Amino acid sequence: MFFGQRVHPLNFAFAQVTRAVSHPTSPGIEVQAGTGKLRLVGEAIGSGLALKITVTNLGASDLAPYSDGLLPEHRSGRVIAPVPAPGREAFDFSSEAAEVRLYTNGLRVAFAGGARLEPAPDGTGIGQCGPQTIVRFSLAGVTAAYAVGERTGRMNRLGKRHDCYTIDVVGVMPDLAARNDYDPTYVSIPFVILRFADGQHAGLHFDSGERLNLDLGAADTSMLTVTAPDGPLPIYFIPGPTLRDVTRRFTALAGRAPIPPTWALGYHQCRWGYRRADEFRALRDRFASSDIPVSALWFDIDYMKGYRLFTWDKDRFPEPAALTAELNAAGIRTVAIIDPGVKREAGNALYEEGATGGFFCRSPSGGDYVGEVWPGDTVFPDFTLERTRRWWAQRLGNFLRESGIDGAWLDMNDPATGGSSCDEMLFNEGRLPHARYHNQYGHLMALASRGAFEQLERARPFLLTRSGFTGTQRHAAIWTGDNASNWDHLRMSIAETINLGLSGVAFNGPDVGGFLGHVDGELLGRWTQAASLFPFFRNHCDTNARPQEPWQFGERTLDICRTAIRGRYRLLPYLYQLFFQHWLEGDPILRPVCYHHPGAEFQHLDDQFLVGDALMVAPMLQSRGENPPVIAEGTPKQFRSVVLPPGRWFDLLHGRWLEGGQTLCYGVGAEELPIFVRDGAAIPYYAGPLANSRVVWRELEIHLFTSREPARCTYLADDLVTAAYQAGKVNVINIEATPARLDTAVELTITENGPLPIGAIDFRPVFYCDLTGAHATAPLHYRMRAGGVVTPEVEARLTTRRWLNQDIAAYA
Ligand code: GLC
Repeated sequence: MFFGQRVHPLNFAFAQVTRAVSHPTSPGIEVQAGTGKLRLVGEAIGSGLALKITVTNLGASDLAPYSDGLLPEHRSGRVIAPVPAPGREAFDFSSEAAEVRLYTNGLRVAFAGGARLEPAPDGTGIGQCGPQTIVRFSLAGVTAAYAVGERTGRMNRLGKRHDCYTIDVVGVMPDLAARNDYDPTYVSIPFVILRFADGQHAGLHFDSGERLNLDLGAADTSMLTVTAPDGPLPIYFIPGPTLRDVTRRFTALAGRAPIPPTWALGYHQCRWGYRRADEFRALRDRFASSDIPVSALWFDIDYMKGYRLFTWDKDRFPEPAALTAELNAAGIRTVAIIDPGVKREAGNALYEEGATGGFFCRSPSGGDYVGEVWPGDTVFPDFTLERTRRWWAQRLGNFLRESGIDGAWLDMNDPATGGSSCDEMLFNEGRLPHARYHNQYGHLMALASRGAFEQLERARPFLLTRSGFTGTQRHAAIWTGDNASNWDHLRMSIAETINLGLSGVAFNGPDVGGFLGHVDGELLGRWTQAASLFPFFRNHCDTNARPQEPWQFGERTLDICRTAIRGRYRLLPYLYQLFFQHWLEGDPILRPVCYHHPGAEFQHLDDQFLVGDALMVAPMLQSRGENPPVIAEGTPKQFRSVVLPPGRWFDLLHGRWLEGGQTLCYGVGAEELPIFVRDGAAIPYYAGPLANSRVVWRELEIHLFTSREPARCTYLADDLVTAAYQAGKVNVINIEATPARLDTAVELTITENGPLPIGAIDFRPVFYCDLTGAHATAPLHYRMRAGGVVTPEVEARLTTRRWLNQDIAAYA
């Protein structure tokens, strides 16, 4: 099937007759559709997490499930006996999560949160076309759709068709730089969140690895259509009512990312084209002399000998372990690219070992499948086999240990097979057709590679993968692959990161500056600002692109990048808290405004975003050519609209409180990143010296934003290094400050509980109060209550300073 094509619904036969079938363990309903039959079985998943209906086309070539997307414990549940609906030819499946009524011609779903989904009104609700299955719902009342994995274009997916098929995008769409809305991409996550006119939300996850087509009103604006080419089609109906509820439930089903090492949250510098050991030393020195922290330097394919896996080109990298040790000594971690393809050549030990061990994918001819990647003819580990995963983990683990490499960057795992068609790549000793695991190749490579870190007993692995599937966040972070250095791709990266986050992949981000083509200083500056609070923050570009490190475009761009990157390091403790929250509850790091502000006016907003629930970022996303600066208050500013949700917001660039519920026309200087802080936020902030990846958070500032609301947060403190947090080694620190008044002191309460030493972190308050009418520098008093002891009143200073600049104003 070509990209952009679908199977026309009129080629399907739709259900006409339903009848209950009894089976000792899985009672269900059978529907007759033309000459074919489909069986529907219901299960209750978790306690109220989802109601699962598996639609099994009895004409499919294989009725077994192959998806590794959801956590094993949620792949099946309590079977629900269908109950005949009184007086109708219909059956009900009921659980805490939803009630699904199966009519002869489709499914009606009443979600526990209140949302309702009706079957296609024209009797085309469920059908078959040979091994293919179709399910259709009416989109009446649906006003927006989110998630669906990694998608370009806008955040709202309504009106779009989604091909759930992982591809090497550049290989298929060499013109991607000229497009800002293409499909598919590297990742497939067949999960959609629908928003209804009354503000309710509900989720649908299609738990199949096959190449599903998810049409959200593209062919017919009134219809949601999902088609599966083969195999069973399990549908998880996930209740809301809020966007947050659906996201949290989905991540409870698919799993959440464990907390990464702190260094992985910093700034990363990469380029395809760093070819010699000395370039890495020069990078280290240049970052230091530019006063820009960098947590990791990345080795792209040029470190290898002829692109052979787990080798180094010793002419260009004579002593890799010594090099990585030197970088580590400067606080810089290293990450190496790992492609799955093994060069097929006699004498290549890895190849021979894999061929002898039967670790590679087969072709229908009985031999090992051969594709074409960087080293030429390549064979591919069959990661569906446990023994291959063990072998891979061993080999990768050895390589990481011997080279002193800290993280693994898993690329070309869509899988990219160059000029060789991938359909001949078979799995499980050649027994399973390619389609069963195509979309899960990168996901299983990530699973196998994580095994390497477990062997090395590295408590917090860092892996980044290009391709992924539902649940890949359990094993790796995802970057959005090859994008282009243009303004459209900068804009697009926000929606892409939002939707990936809503699809469970909280730790993700784009190539900052753009991968293909030549960036200029203006675009690099704006992109570095915009992405500086993205979950994953890496500057990376193509070997043919002009170099795009922060210093390549003169002092002004360097200043802009320095401020943005340093700003991120100041906020790492806040970002760390968000990773903690993701692991605990499933919330994304970067969120759409509508995640916390349910008003209909926010449902399509994707040019400004939230980081956690406290910070709202509204970057400048247009060039000076497109949006020429005008002189405002004596300086050139570009203007954009900023939508402020209800409540009060502190404008960090101007040091002022603003009334929410309005849209501002906001001027942005070249060096400025507009950030607004929610009234009531308490933000941990690191003001100490920066030392690349090294993190010492014993003294933190706590920035308290209180106008009408008390400022509060819960800070989770752990050892920052091990996985002991998973065993409960976490202290819970509750911080709260009352709103300030001129006549009384602010009360700041810090209470800490937990198994770790109490008081290990010293929090110093910085107040952003709203003393209307008072002079901005009027003295403010606070008393601290900690462990039952109240300190005498202390004088504090109100601050209105520009926040992310390097200087930290004095405080009491
Ligand atoms: C792929 C990756 C890109 C990498 C290049 C060379 O295009 O997406 O990030 O630099 O391969 O390894």
